[in-house]
Amino acid sequence: MEKLNSVLLNPKYKLGANLDGWRAVGGGEGLLAALARPDEILSTLEQSGLRGMGGAGFPTWRKWTAAAEAVGDEKYVVCNGNEDEPGTFKDRHLLRWTPHQVIEGALIAALAIRANRVVFYINPHQSEGLAEMCHAVAEWRDSDLLGLIETVIGRPVCLTVTPSSGRYIGGEETAVVSWLEGGFPFPRRKPPFPADKGVGGLPTLINNTETFANVVHILREGAAWYRGLGIGNAVGTKLFSLSGDVLKPGLYELPMGTSLEELVFTHGGGMLDGKAFKAVFTGGPSNTLLTARDLDVALDFDSVRSRNSRLGTGAMIVISEGTSIVRKVAEYIDFFAGGSCGQCPSCKCGTFQMARLLERIATGSGSRDDVRAVDNLCAILPGSGRCALIDGAVTVVESSMRTFPEEYGL
Ligand SMILES: Cc1cc2nc3c(=O)[nH]c(=O)nc-3n(C[C@H](O)[C@H](O)[C@H](O)COP(=O)(O)O)c2cc1C
Repeated sequence: MEKLNSVLLNPKYKLGANLDGWRAVGGGEGLLAALARPDEILSTLEQSGLRGMGGAGFPTWRKWTAAAEAVGDEKYVVCNGNEDEPGTFKDRHLLRWTPHQVIEGALIAALAIRANRVVFYINPHQSEGLAEMCHAVAEWRDSDLLGLIETVIGRPVCLTVTPSSGRYIGGEETAVVSWLEGGFPFPRRKPPFPADKGVGGLPTLINNTETFANVVHILREGAAWYRGLGIGNAVGTKLFSLSGDVLKPGLYELPMGTSLEELVFTHGGGMLDGKAFKAVFTGGPSNTLLTARDLDVALDFDSVRSRNSRLGTGAMIVISEGTSIVRKVAEYIDFFAGGSCGQCPSCKCGTFQMARLLERIATGSGSRDDVRAVDNLCAILPGSGRCALIDGAVTVVESSMRTFPEEYGL
């Protein structure tokens, strides 16, 4: 089998603007393979090694198995297309340009767990993606493929497109559940996990848009093919949202396990204005920073983890020498403060307080006490929220203080 680098972003899929076009370029074949052996979907996913692309990298087959085993009169599959974190711009591309790829993946999930409700939960600020999805879902409602799924499941399958609140917090999976129940997107404590008790107390499988898109190809080409796309022990491909001080920022699909150096200097064209590479906000602005010492790291879940960071969504925000890290961190914490839902006072007040202090430090008007106060907040805030927002905010602040102490006057 040919070793492809472009699976999800294969240019020919852009031609599949409507369902017939999608099927003409091989769309539908993954679903047909799944329909031929629905009981093998979970084992195929397990063998593929696919992990969630929404940030945590949780093994997809385990979540699907939990949802398949959960008992409920009805079940939901939700495609998470909220994508509101700075630096991440992959899901909007898939929704806008290859909506059928995403829908087919979500329908394979519905078949695997026997779900009769499939919701495409999309950030309304991505208006083009939202419009494309509405159009594409309408085509699937009338398709023979949906009829085949309904025959196996033994009941009608309802497909809906639901605009999310458009808030950052709305992408957290329990906030997704709250919103779909008609409430404000407040995260909830876990357990129970949505796969057990989600929308209306019913089993609800929530996956990221990119995760679902991968499933189509795994079912069509097989688990071994998918594993073979990665480098070393890594499997499949990854969408990298590359931004910041590089010559060619953009969305790149590369083998999982590609080095950071190759992403930045080969695909990204190197640094802007010939400046030196200083650091990268890896996996978005809520993880540990990587520096020039880490350029050799393989960009896959485990390798990035071994450097105490996280691959996250695959967002890579590159910073050059001469750019203030404190300034960038202050911007991100300000974003988190605005994005905090306010349900947990420690998160709302903690992020707000950190943002104020960092703003002072970044603009040169901070004192030693301000730096100490940030340090203290980093010690007391982790674990104090219902969701991971506050932990992510603290991680990036702590990491920046540890990695660039001189910028804090330490
Ligand atoms: C504050 C916050 C925001 C999140 N936003 C998103 C999002 O926009 N899209 C997404 O897929 N996952 C988001 N997540 C992760 C989800 O909670 C969940 O882990 C993910 O949708 C599961 O999909 P996956 O297993 O395919 O990765 C967010 C998590 C947190 C804590």
